Amino acid sequence: MDHKIRIALIGCGNIGAVHANAYRAEKDRAEIVACCDVNRERGEAFAARFGIPAFYTDMEEMLAEVRPDAVSVCTWNSAHAPATVCSLRAGAHVLCEKPMAMNTAEALEMERAADQTGKLLMVGFVRRFGNDAAFLKPVIEAKEMGDLYYAKAQYLRGKGYPAGWFGDLKYAGGGPFIDLGVHVIDLVRYLAGNPLPVSAYGVTCRSLSDQRRAWGGGWKSEGVGFAYDCEDSASAIITFENGLRLLVETSYSLDIPEEVNRIELYGTKKSAFLDPSLSYISYPTDNTPRIEHPECEIDGQVFFSREIAHFLDCIEHGTPCRAPARDGVELMRILDAVYESAKTGQTVKIR
Ligand SMILES: NC(=O)c1ccc[n+]([C@@H]2O[C@H](COP(=O)([O-])OP(=O)(O)OC[C@H]3O[C@@H](n4cnc5c(N)ncnc54)[C@H](O)[C@@H]3O)[C@@H](O)[C@H]2O)c1
Repeated sequence: MDHKIRIALIGCGNIGAVHANAYRAEKDRAEIVACCDVNRERGEAFAARFGIPAFYTDMEEMLAEVRPDAVSVCTWNSAHAPATVCSLRAGAHVLCEKPMAMNTAEALEMERAADQTGKLLMVGFVRRFGNDAAFLKPVIEAKEMGDLYYAKAQYLRGKGYPAGWFGDLKYAGGGPFIDLGVHVIDLVRYLAGNPLPVSAYGVTCRSLSDQRRAWGGGWKSEGVGFAYDCEDSASAIITFENGLRLLVETSYSLDIPEEVNRIELYGTKKSAFLDPSLSYISYPTDNTPRIEHPECEIDGQVFFSREIAHFLDCIEHGTPCRAPARDGVELMRILDAVYESAKTGQTVKIR
């Protein structure tokens, strides 16, 4: 490219700020030229904070006037599809936050828009950018763990949900399963070589909704006047075409002393535990647990910096995208199947 990649941000909230920081760190090749939020006060304060020259409350107006090369979609979930589709149609590449959409139908529409415009659509599967994933993926690909046959993933919060729209089905599309489940299900799928899901059985609980609490732990979304009508917790068993079975548990408000964010991967030769990042790989042949992996700290801003750097590499150098729309669609198929199964009490066939 003969000029810096011109970026626009849609959604000036918590994660918008994390994206903005990551773009600022790439100032030699990218510049944020505009941002947009339906909340004027919030968006103007955001533009001032990050020195962004133009602010809009209407995304279509922004896209038409600014013509950005690329857009980060950082809105609440129900705006992901409209913001992504109109950005792609305006000629921009898009990095869309997770979950990709409210459901599979929206995700397919987004993927179609990317195919038709020839623009990149990347999904914000940020845990694909951890150094634990970088270490484990080739280990698994080289079959050092044998065949992965079973995995367990837990992402459990006990102190409530992050307030605002996160609990409102109209804006979030679901509760902890769509919000937290996405991270751990995607990481398992990515490490396992992105196998296609074939079926899911799920249960959801809404037993504590009268005791709902906004999360005291940190992440807090903006907004009052939203409903709380999502599940409090959800669990599922997902099967994949390569024989891998995954047991997932998620919650906003299980009565637990502290957050759990844990993945266990069981292979026919070795097993790996991420708690939340890679903490241990078993070496069953010599019976001595050994830890042979680099430091694998969870550091949010580092993940996002790598994710944004990769998005820019894809645009600038045509680097194959590590988190393409196709994987977002498969994740949405899983989420839809789990929520449908929780309603019907039946296992749902995905393919
Ligand atoms: N990758 C991660 O680890 C991670 C972490 C947190 C949140 N997220 C995702 O990021 C997204 C945003 O979450 P958040 O915590 O920043 O929420 P937030 O409430 O802090 O910010 C969302 C912003 O989007 C704005 N918005 C909504 N609709 C809009 C529209 N049509 N046009 C312009 N602006 C609009 C809202 O006014 C709000 O300011 C969600 O999809 C969430 O799932 C990802």
